[in-house]
Amino acid sequence: MIVLVVGSGAREHALAWRIAQSGELSELHAAPGNPGIAALGQCHPVRAEDGDGLLSLALTIGADLVVIGPEGPLVAGVADLLRQNGIAVFGPSAAAARIEGSKTFAKDVLRSAGVSTAETLPIARAPCVIKADGLAAGKGVFVCRTGEEVDAALLELTELGGDFVIEELLEGPEISLFALSDGATVVPLGAAQDFKRIRDGDEGPNTGGMGAYSPLPWLSDANALIEAVHAPVIEQLARRGAPFVGCLFAGLMLTPDGPKVLEFNARFGDPETQVLMPRVGEGLLPALAAAAHGTLGSARVELTNDAAVTVVLAGPEYPARSDYSGVAIAGIDAAEEAGALVFHGGTAVRGRQVVTNGGRILSVTGTGPTVADARGRAYAAADLISFDGVQFRRDIAAVAGG
Ligand code: AMP
Ligand code: GLY
Repeated sequence: MIVLVVGSGAREHALAWRIAQSGELSELHAAPGNPGIAALGQCHPVRAEDGDGLLSLALTIGADLVVIGPEGPLVAGVADLLRQNGIAVFGPSAAAARIEGSKTFAKDVLRSAGVSTAETLPIARAPCVIKADGLAAGKGVFVCRTGEEVDAALLELTELGGDFVIEELLEGPEISLFALSDGATVVPLGAAQDFKRIRDGDEGPNTGGMGAYSPLPWLSDANALIEAVHAPVIEQLARRGAPFVGCLFAGLMLTPDGPKVLEFNARFGDPETQVLMPRVGEGLLPALAAAAHGTLGSARVELTNDAAVTVVLAGPEYPARSDYSGVAIAGIDAAEEAGALVFHGGTAVRGRQVVTNGGRILSVTGTGPTVADARGRAYAAADLISFDGVQFRRDIAAVAGG
């Protein structure tokens, strides 16, 4: 199979790494890819949002499957364009990706599907959560516990422009739950926990995610949750003429009143994928292809019982800035020799030197029989990597023991 992976982050590196190990793969391509992916396949200078460019690339290389990583191209309809031209795509249509692209649409689907979510409130009064309606790269959500926080949120959202939704403030541990779908069938892909705040102890601003671990030893039955949450949503989207083909990612809060959906994403999580890929076996690529062809049927993706922990190494001003570039990175080889997986998120190559080029620079993943073992390996490897200004959290997965 000739496979084209679209995207340039550590999530796409992790997907490419697992796909590259599949016996069914003949050629791996990426657009635009990154220096980590370049060690596994051929990278092409086509942006992830450039639908026409991707179509022409897919036709030139004779892609049998295109796997789209980020939400931007999905919401913009890149999967539709490729499909209309006869190319098999893992990734939802623009109509189905609205489950991520519009909070109002997601609420409506959840209501029809009978899946529990935060109640929508008619007015903004603390405590509440105020969210921009469209895509906002994690920056459109304001958790307000005081009247002052409500005022500040409304001011900032007014500046952003566009609609917003107000909902009840929920409490409890948060999990990320993943399932593959071909539009009809749902295949569980496991659970992970993401650490969204920039600093230890969940302090500071929200980020794209500073680390993750999987499995969640304290979660009794992830597959039952997928049956209760993902399955009815997939059915509802199909009923609305927008079948969802791809990875459906539910962000859930386990409240004292039961699990409630915070949000859906129409794609794999970043950094959750960096802990899921080490746990999935060779079955991943056949399952992605089956989803794209509408033939998932009774396919199963086996996950090992091994644990994985990933620690994100970020630039010094992340998340305020994601353009930390040109600073030499040392120790990647040493970290890999120590047994860790080092996924590139924001890097470039200058001469023969890997340098920083982004906000979340690297995802360092350790694996082991327990979360504590995996965590020890991830941090031992992260400590071997250095670049000026590096920042990372010291408490990723500490809650899970170790
Ligand atoms: P979202 O982009 O909707 O996932 O929101 C980002 C983060 O805001 C979530 O990961 C939660 O930590 C928090 N959040 C969102 N909605 C709520 C809610 N209704 N109650 C409490 N926290 C929330
Ligand atoms: N880690 C959360 C996300 O990918 O949206």
